Amino acid sequence: LDNGLALTPAMGWLHWERFMCNINCDTDPHNCISENLYMQMADMMVKDGWKDAGYEYVCIDDCWPATSRDEQGRLQADPKRFPGGMKKLADYVHSKGLKLGIYADVGTKTCAGYPGSLGYYEVDAKTFADWGVDLLKFDGCYMPKWTLLAEGYINMSRALNSTGRSIFYSCEWPLYEWQYTQPNYTAIRQYCNHWRNYADVYDSWTSVKAILDWTANNQDLIVPAAGPGGWNDPDMLILGNFGLSLDQQVTQMALWAIMAAPLFMSNDLRDIDPKSKALLQNRYVIAINQDPLGKQGRRTAEVKNFEVWERLLSGGKLALAVINRQEIGGPRRFPLTLAMLPSWKFCNPQCNVTQILPSYQDMGTQKLTNMTEVPINPTGTVLLVVTPSAADHKLRKKWFHHK
Ligand code: GLA
Repeated sequence: LDNGLALTPAMGWLHWERFMCNINCDTDPHNCISENLYMQMADMMVKDGWKDAGYEYVCIDDCWPATSRDEQGRLQADPKRFPGGMKKLADYVHSKGLKLGIYADVGTKTCAGYPGSLGYYEVDAKTFADWGVDLLKFDGCYMPKWTLLAEGYINMSRALNSTGRSIFYSCEWPLYEWQYTQPNYTAIRQYCNHWRNYADVYDSWTSVKAILDWTANNQDLIVPAAGPGGWNDPDMLILGNFGLSLDQQVTQMALWAIMAAPLFMSNDLRDIDPKSKALLQNRYVIAINQDPLGKQGRRTAEVKNFEVWERLLSGGKLALAVINRQEIGGPRRFPLTLAMLPSWKFCNPQCNVTQILPSYQDMGTQKLTNMTEVPINPTGTVLLVVTPSAADHKLRKKWFHHK
């Protein structure tokens, strides 16, 4: 979507995976969906370095509204859980130098059964703009006819645009269309800043694996759609919760960088393991995710239960992730024979290699004939950045020029 936003994938925090539809503020005030939760997350984002690392959006998901609209047909926040109202919450988040995201649904109800926006797109877009909202996640439940999904998502995109406020538009259009037909990614890219393609992430390695597999299996279709202005969204980062081992957290972080994915964490920033925090704030990984060339990477090889993923970066660099998909045994050694890797034919005669994950390590100059091996833990990933030598870079530029 050409609205000046999402020139690189968006970064922020979104409540759903960790806090879901917890509306029990009487018994669980610390974790229920209320204005306090977002204010506390905004505080933590500034205090603990998240904002400095690039995380910007504080996002509300489902279960925020009152169960009915007001007399003028406008959505209203649940008055008990949001006593200050949404405008005040937006002001608070803005006072911290952050942005506020909200959630609504293209159909008659949200997925959790709260009022949907069908028939109210203009009203709701204007309400969100009046409140000072900066991002809308637009879900796709309860659409009376699936053939109306595209029209609904397009109409809301236009309604947001005509408010005059700059509002990031996060869609689930393809996810819901996939149940019936292959989505039109050209149209989706034209109207959305990012879009969900596949099932909701949950707190487990099985879920992360399924997302990676789906993405690789559909990469010829979805990778070309990504670029500045619009990105594929493989759903939230779940680092810092309960279901992923440290190696699996490394894998999610590394692969979300390769996939040029939006980085929306869903975790509790008030109580997070320092190792998860260090991974989420790793500036080298974030730099790969945010690379200005804006090309999504893809899976380029599967060999002996290793997966190789590659992403072309600006300046002729290359990010390379190798996942050990074998779930038995100890660390296995992956031979970094440059000649074997699809994009490395340009590393002739040599490239500089830096390991980014699981730990930072300068691996020096690697030649095509080197046989360096990197150990990778089961379900873990090694993330590398490969930089061609200056001479090689010139040759490569020339080669591209003549193409
Ligand atoms: C759907 C979406 C999720 C979340 C829930 C909320 O399942 O895909 O991301 O927004 O609805 O009910």
